[in-house]
Amino acid sequence: MSNLTPHLLATQFLELPLNNPLMNASGVWCSVASQLEALTESAAGAMVSKSCTLQPRDGNPEPRYRVLDGENQPFGSINSMGLPNEGFNYYLRYAQRHDYEAKPLFISLSGLTLDDNLTMVDALKDAVLPALLEINLSCPNVPGKSQTGYDFEAMDMMLAEVSSGYQRGFGVKLPPYFDMAHFDEAAEILNRYPLVAFVTCINSIGNALAIDLDSETTLIKPKDGFGGLGGDFVLPTALANVNAFYRRCPEKAIIGCGGVKSGRDAFLHILAGATLVQIGTSLLEEGPGIFPRVQTELAAIMVKKGYQSVDEFRGKLKTL
Ligand code: DHB
Repeated sequence: MSNLTPHLLATQFLELPLNNPLMNASGVWCSVASQLEALTESAAGAMVSKSCTLQPRDGNPEPRYRVLDGENQPFGSINSMGLPNEGFNYYLRYAQRHDYEAKPLFISLSGLTLDDNLTMVDALKDAVLPALLEINLSCPNVPGKSQTGYDFEAMDMMLAEVSSGYQRGFGVKLPPYFDMAHFDEAAEILNRYPLVAFVTCINSIGNALAIDLDSETTLIKPKDGFGGLGGDFVLPTALANVNAFYRRCPEKAIIGCGGVKSGRDAFLHILAGATLVQIGTSLLEEGPGIFPRVQTELAAIMVKKGYQSVDEFRGKLKTL
């Protein structure tokens, strides 16, 4: 990485200074302490822990993640992990010893019920940590449970209850939306809650089906092969959601997630309005060495275009 890179990529998220705008997507490299420590040591500018439930969970039966390798198909992944995680207390303990000087830490909560979320929110509030709270409204992989982000009444109630319980700024992880009326309605709900300080777009495109031609079999086992899609398939949907919420929620920061494997992809997310850019599938496949690679590529694009900071082009997407 050139010496200029850290200066070029330095930015702020809700007034926190960051070395660069890249971080992991929740679920990738963040389930156990050794992975969280590796992210702390990595070149990532921030990091988020695995979405957790009140109690530890084993998750769905394996195989539950498969890479779509890009050889006879686009590069991507399908997963139906089913929220395997060490339980809230484990991530709380990690958050109590995280090196916040190194980089900010987001804690992602994905309680199985509203009450479970409120119990975790209460404990996080009482712990008085610099960690940032993200409520995941979009886990697509628990059999029999629908996503809160697709039930606007439940989403409104969740935001009301978390706002009054937490009494500090927090964020939400949203599923992708595909209809202008849904962008409008979701944004209108988010804008009712001033404590919703950031919005992460998008979670995986839920309930895709990947099939192996030779064996005529699904690639993953849970839910008859249905799972969340990531990688190249989702980049345009992610950019649309980032930009839709950037336009509609001017008081909130947007975190972009979906389809990022290069500096080009990260640039496009920022141009669409993202302040931070997450890497999921490609981080899982390439490891934390992806961060310096994508940073170098992003910085090279900026130098070529004459941009001296990411703030100069954030949200500056042009339309025809
Ligand atoms: C899981 C998947 C998600 O997309 C998510 O947001 C949370 C959990 C999972 O299957 O573990």
